[in-house]
Amino acid sequence: MNRFFVAVSVATGLVLLNAVPSYAQSAEAGQSVFKRDCAICHEVVAGKNRTGPSLFGIVGRPAGSVPNFSYSNGNKASGLTWDTATLDRYLIAPRTVVPGTKMSYGGQKDDQKRRDLIAYLATLH
Ligand code: HEC
Repeated sequence: MNRFFVAVSVATGLVLLNAVPSYAQSAEAGQSVFKRDCAICHEVVAGKNRTGPSLFGIVGRPAGSVPNFSYSNGNKASGLTWDTATLDRYLIAPRTVVPGTKMSYGGQKDDQKRRDLIAYLATLH
């Protein structure tokens, strides 16, 4: 291989690396995680609550703010706003971040699945 081909291969490799960052996230993959892990208790349309409150517009919403949903005191008093960083902490271990929550979900420990899930939640507007 001459020097020109080495340079071209290195450049192509760098372009590919840039196109696929290690923390890439996919809202489409996140929708599958949502269906499996969350849909049994949460709707994604505004105003529809199930066991859990509607998650329409969840990213950026203050905790405990869906009207007509009976939240736990722990959730109401948490003072949290559901930005992506807070959701990431919460969805690993809901009961640690919101003590006394009545959300019976053990948490999603897989980083990639959680990122995909949050990318999907961000589309719910
Ligand atoms: C077994 C039912 C159940 C499952 C499964 C569940 N949740 Fe919940 N979720 C709840 C309940 C109940 C609440 C209300 C918590 C409270 O008031 O303490 C809640 C609250 C929340 C909140 C806070 C909403 C607000 O308005 O403050 C978020 C965010 C949330 N859930 C996201 C999720 C996501 C994402 C999943 C899937 C990974 C999920 N939940 C799985 C029942 C569930």
